[in-house]
Amino acid sequence: MATLLVTGGAGFIGSCYVLARRAAGDRVINLDKLTYSGNMGNLLSLKGDADHIFVRGDIGNAELVRHLLETYAPDAVLHFAAESHVDRSILDPGAFVRTNVLGTCALLHSVYGWWKDLAEERRQTFRFLHVSTDEVFGALRPDDDAFSEETAYAPNSPYSASKAASDHFVRAYHETYGFPTLITNCSNNYGPRQFPEKLIPLVTLNALARKPLPVYGTGSNIRDWLHVEDHCTALQLVLEAGRVGQTYAIGGRSERTNLEVVRTVCAALDEMAPSREGPYAELVRFVTDRPGHDFRYAIDCSKLCRELGWQPAHTFEEGLRETVRWYLDNREWVENVQSGDYRKWLDVNYAGRVQRVSA
Ligand code: NAD
Ligand code: TYD
Repeated sequence: MATLLVTGGAGFIGSCYVLARRAAGDRVINLDKLTYSGNMGNLLSLKGDADHIFVRGDIGNAELVRHLLETYAPDAVLHFAAESHVDRSILDPGAFVRTNVLGTCALLHSVYGWWKDLAEERRQTFRFLHVSTDEVFGALRPDDDAFSEETAYAPNSPYSASKAASDHFVRAYHETYGFPTLITNCSNNYGPRQFPEKLIPLVTLNALARKPLPVYGTGSNIRDWLHVEDHCTALQLVLEAGRVGQTYAIGGRSERTNLEVVRTVCAALDEMAPSREGPYAELVRFVTDRPGHDFRYAIDCSKLCRELGWQPAHTFEEGLRETVRWYLDNREWVENVQSGDYRKWLDVNYAGRVQRVSA
């Protein structure tokens, strides 16, 4: 049984990881600021669990982080906490610099300062796993090879620039101080508990409310989708057996255009929650594109498969149907996150976009 300090463990991916590690018997210290995307409703099943210690706080709070390290002496830190949405980063880059860059630097420095004074044996086995994104590599053209660990960084959005900066600092702490880091760069995740600002839950919930389904540009941009549980399985393998100082690319080998994704959600809803008002795909609207919209992401995950024996357990079609079913079955969770602030975001991001019925 390990003790893990997880940051951002009330968010979409972090909560999936926390639930999996508690099921496996690890003790989890969960440090989360509970920003708009952090949600205790993601952790309801851990209520009363003495081995899940939730602490509301900021990764940039050095005193608090030091206190948690000294009190619980974790075997590893898994760093999920971040501002994570590209569209928000376009409207407010500063928040991304504060949490993703400055926050990560502060966290790194706190953990490094504690680690360097540990006994040699503990120093050897400790790990700091930084959870990052494939977006740091920029955009692919249709026929380009997929991103790999060798791809040069070329971030295009304030979000990906802030994640790239954080990756560089993590790398530098390994190179400069011998701090035992691991970095993962993962493709787009989907699954239960994703905040409905992201494409799949947004489209699912808009469709159920018979609202327009906003597809940016012509819907031809491509993402490589991975089920969140498969991402967490990969993270655990990297934590347990990844080589210190290395990076690992994680992806689902499931490239789909955005329009394909939206139509697949609509087809699943037509079957699971048919509407008398007509097929959900009638609600698709092509709207003003995202500025600097990366055309395509795809990951070559052969290093992870070869070295650590990872394989995703979900196919995209089956995982997406299961995800749509989760949103249908968890209306209370949905109602809780669709607060006043969420509605304000929909106005800010979508009200000014021109809408068209065809691309
Ligand atoms: P999310 O927005 O759902 O969750 C982020 C969590 O971090 C929230 O619980 C939030 O409260 C917390 N947080 C934010 N700022 C904080 C701070 N200063 N201190 C402490 N906690 C703070 O994001 P997610 O989709 O779960 O992404 C988690 C990580 O995975 C991020 O680092 C993201 O860059 C990375 N990632 C995401 C995807 C994806 O498709 N969602 C893909 C690859 C990598
Ligand atoms: P998103 O879920 O925001 O993830 P990311 O930007 O990190 O890839 O978006 C996934 C894709 O869907 C991306 O190409 C942008 C597109 N998109 C839409 O077409 N409409 C929307 O309303 C949103 C939120 C995203």
